Amino acid sequence: MLSIRNLSIDYELPGAPLSVLRDVTLDFPQGQVTALIGESGSGKTTLTGAVLGLLSSNARVRGGQVLWKEENLLRQDPERLRQFRWRQASVVFQAAQGAWNPSLTIGAQMLDTCLDHGFPAHAQRREQLLKQVRLTPERVISAYPHQLSGGMRQRALIALALMLEPELLILDEPTTALDLITQSYIFDILSEIHQTGLTMILVTHDLAAVARLADRVAVLYAGTLVELDTAQEIFENPRHPYTQVLIRSAPGVHGGEVARGAEGLPPDLRDRPRGCIFASRCKEVEERCRAASPPLENGVACWRRK
Ligand SMILES: Nc1ncnc2c1ncn2[C@@H]1O[C@H](COP(=O)(O)OP(=O)(O)OP(=O)(O)O)[C@@H](O)[C@H]1O
Ligand code: SF4
Ligand SMILES: [Mg+2]
Repeated sequence: MLSIRNLSIDYELPGAPLSVLRDVTLDFPQGQVTALIGESGSGKTTLTGAVLGLLSSNARVRGGQVLWKEENLLRQDPERLRQFRWRQASVVFQAAQGAWNPSLTIGAQMLDTCLDHGFPAHAQRREQLLKQVRLTPERVISAYPHQLSGGMRQRALIALALMLEPELLILDEPTTALDLITQSYIFDILSEIHQTGLTMILVTHDLAAVARLADRVAVLYAGTLVELDTAQEIFENPRHPYTQVLIRSAPGVHGGEVARGAEGLPPDLRDRPRGCIFASRCKEVEERCRAASPPLENGVACWRRK
């Protein structure tokens, strides 16, 4: 349904550009939840921004394609991308408060969104979606955003995102800044929405939620895709040394024990090292790792896992 091919993106900055995504190739199969994981700064939001046509003005696509059913979205004009964002794909970001207009009720904004995009404004669909995210329509429709809790606003935002019947839902840290019980509740709801067959891209640092919701997991490290596999394989049999550290560092994923993370920091993206991107932190590094970058083969990019 959605396919990213050899995507490379830089951010222009004074001095050298920041090379944030390098040669990423990744498919998002229909009806599946694909999770993007990786530590802060690994390029997850940049990747979703490229799909949605929402890259910052200093972003430069150095190469590659974002194919939506064979249409390269990177070549489309702003009007087509705006239409794509609402009619084919919807996005839920972290900051739900900022997504709502404080001077209009939730109900009015849900219908306005339909009208703005030439979609019939179905009050019935609005009610049904609010119920789907376990909100009481009578209460929420007439409420202003500030009258709802953060968790309720975020759930209403998921309902809003579904209003135009998108084929793809992108969730970029949808539960960050919410309490743990609310987070878990939202993942229950997303799990129910997944049962309806909607294709989703989930970006989160909550690996327990990934284990629960995702069908497939893509692991990004410093803008490089280092592992791509089924969620079950990623959690039960992580192969890339970085994935192993990431999974074992996650509280509540490996028998509740918190393991130590990889020592050191990701490399400087203004000056990407030659060879394997993880070499400076890898405990298994050897001579050949520093000479050339391992390609992603059979779902893993590591010379020692061929
Ligand atoms: N507009 C920009 N200009 C310059 N650098 C940027 C810009 N946007 C993001 N970056 C940098 O690009 C890198 C990738 O950022 P991105 O937001 O895609 O990472 P992320 O994986 O989503 O991180 P997080 O988990 O913290 O949300 C980071 O080093 C970030 O600081
Ligand atoms: S290629 Fe080498 S440095 Fe890179 S992850 Fe594999 S073993 Fe570690
Ligand atoms: Mg991000």
